Amino acid sequence: MDTCDNRTRTFYIETFGCQMNVHDSEKVAGLLLAQGYDAAASSEEADLVVLNTCAIRDKAEQKVFSRLGHFKADALAGKKTVAVLGCMAQLEGEKIFAQAPYVHLVAGSASYRKLPSLLVQLETGNQRVTGLEYDDQAFETEFTRRNNPFRAYLTIIEGCDKACAYCVVPFTRGPERSRTNASILAEARRLVAEGYTEIQLLGQNVNSYRDPSPHRMSFAELLAAVAEIPGLRRVRFTTSHPRDFTREIVDAIDSHPTLCNHVHLPVQSGSNQVLARMAREYTREEYLEKIALIRSARRAISLTTDIIVGFPGETEADFEETLTLLDTTQYDGMFSFTYSPRPNTPALRLDDQVPEEEKRRRIIALQAWQREIQLARNQKLVGKQFELLVEGENRKRGQYTGRTTNNRVVNFASAEEKLGSYVPIRVTGAGPHSLVGERLAMSVASQRSPGTERGE
Ligand code: 5AD
Ligand code: SF4
Repeated sequence: MDTCDNRTRTFYIETFGCQMNVHDSEKVAGLLLAQGYDAAASSEEADLVVLNTCAIRDKAEQKVFSRLGHFKADALAGKKTVAVLGCMAQLEGEKIFAQAPYVHLVAGSASYRKLPSLLVQLETGNQRVTGLEYDDQAFETEFTRRNNPFRAYLTIIEGCDKACAYCVVPFTRGPERSRTNASILAEARRLVAEGYTEIQLLGQNVNSYRDPSPHRMSFAELLAAVAEIPGLRRVRFTTSHPRDFTREIVDAIDSHPTLCNHVHLPVQSGSNQVLARMAREYTREEYLEKIALIRSARRAISLTTDIIVGFPGETEADFEETLTLLDTTQYDGMFSFTYSPRPNTPALRLDDQVPEEEKRRRIIALQAWQREIQLARNQKLVGKQFELLVEGENRKRGQYTGRTTNNRVVNFASAEEKLGSYVPIRVTGAGPHSLVGERLAMSVASQRSPGTERGE
């Protein structure tokens, strides 16, 4: 690495995986800027390339290795420093150097705070440095550089104490560590003062939140406290574990219109046998009780889920139970995955692996099934009016896109909109994954804030 010139060094971060990773990258960017680095416009121009990685499925890891190959020549020529951060770094550790010897730095998600000192080690001549220890606290930084000017991610809990048999997260992100309510609320207030109107509370398992301060604020109380911050219009939270999902959370949503009408509640499978083998700690019936709780709310709350097909031992009959669960629950959205065996996980010891070809057949059937459900649900919304947060634009084509409080995407035509503003629309068309709308004139009702979707 050439450290002789006095030019300001530049960095570029590429992020793989979930929202937690996206937000971690924002924290790392903030740290690097505070260290005097400048942001580069592309990885080609950057002196330091950071890959913030995901390890949830094997495919995610393969993607990172193929991306790393892209930087090999520059790294070997001393033109670039290459850092691998995140879940894959934590999981694979030194093995990354074996597969990609030109990588300079490997640091797990619990060691980011040490990044400045790790970089100093590199600059002072170390060829390779690692940071793989677990830091006891949640990773907070006052420097966070957020990418989105109106929706802010805010971490409330790190890690996971569950032990789902397929999941690598307890190994990559370590045990649960919650932030104090005071530090969360202070950050939320600061965000509102900076102009943010939507906050998304993040954690691997947000409803396991345990306030470490003497106050012991519950997750539902924390939701209410954030929702009551003046100036905030939308609060979301993800991800919830069905086992820890309580009536208090539904009550909080009911009594605080600022809390969005959307719950992401991963079920993973509709079969009790598979759920038990997965060690999910609930049965299909118990899960459906939680769904009934959510459906009993005064406000119509959208539901989305995650599903894994082809878990070891999943029979055709088990798979069909997942399909009937989709019918019963009527999700508004679903993320689906074929089971991928991961290092260290208990599921590795299970026999009866489902052949890849069969996994593919099941996921295609599952997605087609859910597509029909979503299309029918969305078609019922034609003619209804919603408030959107405008999030994206294609100015040349006069096209904009926004989200309802229920997290539905709506595309609409308009001459000019301000990104980050809230506008009323009427739904004119529906597809399985998004709606089409027409912009309505600003009504008194829609200016009154916070957006409640009354379509269902
Ligand atoms: N294989 C396939 N999907 C997985 N997920 C987690 N681990 C695995 C794995 N080993 C899915 C789960 C989880 C989502 C984030 O990723 O559905 O909810
Ligand atoms: Fe993984 Fe289960 Fe923890 Fe979710 S709750 S992160 S699936 S171990």
